[in-house]
Amino acid sequence: MLFKRPIIPATRSWLYCLHQQQRNLARIPTTTTRLVSITSYSTSSHHQQQHGKQQYPIISFIGGGNMAEAIMGGLQASGHPGSHLRFTEPVTERRRQLESKYPTLVGFDENEQAVEGANVVVLAVKPQVLHNVMTTLAPSLTKDSSTLIISIAPGITTSDMVQWLRDATQEKTTTAAIVRCMPNTPALIGEGAVGLYASEAVSDEQRQTAVSIMHAFAKEVSWVTNESMMETVTGISGSGPAYFFLIMEAMQNAAVKAGLIPEVAKALTLQTCLGAARMAQESDDDLATLRRKVTSPKGTTEAAINSLESNHIRKIMEEAVLTAQQRGHEIAEELRQQQE
Ligand SMILES: NC(=O)c1ccc[n+]([C@@H]2O[C@H](COP(=O)([O-])OP(=O)(O)OC[C@H]3O[C@@H](n4cnc5c(N)ncnc54)[C@H](OP(=O)(O)O)[C@@H]3O)[C@@H](O)[C@H]2O)c1
Repeated sequence: MLFKRPIIPATRSWLYCLHQQQRNLARIPTTTTRLVSITSYSTSSHHQQQHGKQQYPIISFIGGGNMAEAIMGGLQASGHPGSHLRFTEPVTERRRQLESKYPTLVGFDENEQAVEGANVVVLAVKPQVLHNVMTTLAPSLTKDSSTLIISIAPGITTSDMVQWLRDATQEKTTTAAIVRCMPNTPALIGEGAVGLYASEAVSDEQRQTAVSIMHAFAKEVSWVTNESMMETVTGISGSGPAYFFLIMEAMQNAAVKAGLIPEVAKALTLQTCLGAARMAQESDDDLATLRRKVTSPKGTTEAAINSLESNHIRKIMEEAVLTAQQRGHEIAEELRQQQE
């Protein structure tokens, strides 16, 4: 089977790419307000369900893993009726666990059943099984053009997914409204940062619906305009939590080496990290200004910052992000070759 190429401008340096991508990211307004419910979705009336005065989309999750649970749990907590949230999970033990934890949610054995009549289908499976899942579900996914498909599988492009649907339905003109999303692990505690990309067929209303769903588990939701930027998002917020875990681990170890007991070293390190992030979020100052404000001339912070700068902290971070981005492209290519 043949699939389209990832969009990697080979003639550009990675640095230039990142610069362009950052500019594009910056142009996209980010929505930081947590939406409490999704009421804006409209589609053909037989799909709409009444819940009081509000109308909620029926959202089906294919795969009941960690990410699906984080989104489903967040949606339910925000008031989305459980009767409008469906999921499928092949592992019986895991399905029962979800059913007992979320008794109002509707669990299905068969993916086809869960997708029937759904307004939004969230594909929450590993990328390796996405082709099989989409091929099997192709007739249902393409039956109603207003169905919004959200994929959280990294590396698989929207054009790959449309091509899979075309191959499965044997309809060359088949199209689908697909949103790709890259969440991160803090999403599991409702503190996620998510990057989104929408295929051409996605309407403004569907974009709004996607953002609302993401806010069930993410505090920060940003659109990117070029699909290859999803790998940049991976290098920043997808892999980013691990960078901070490493930095905190190094700080904690340094504190222990300098004489603190491990518990105190950990507590001070974590709260410092959290406090700095909260301060940066709440302040009107940019990061460089905030740093300068705690760096008195000839003081302790200045000595530490000079040490970090002379050890090339900026270069280290830049290389880490670009390497993750490049690895994201490579993994996407490996996945594509596995499917061919
Ligand atoms: N966790 C993260 O931090 C993170 C971050 C960014 C993106 N993602 C992506 O998000 C997706 C979900 O991640 P996750 O951590 O939730 O993975 P997960 O816990 O492995 O969940 C995937 C679930 O889908 C089930 N599944 C497998 N084949 C299926 C099929 N044919 N139909 C229905 N369900 C099926 C799996 O069952 P089995 O266990 O039997 O296979 C598993 O329970 C992945 O693509 C992942 O790469 C995750």
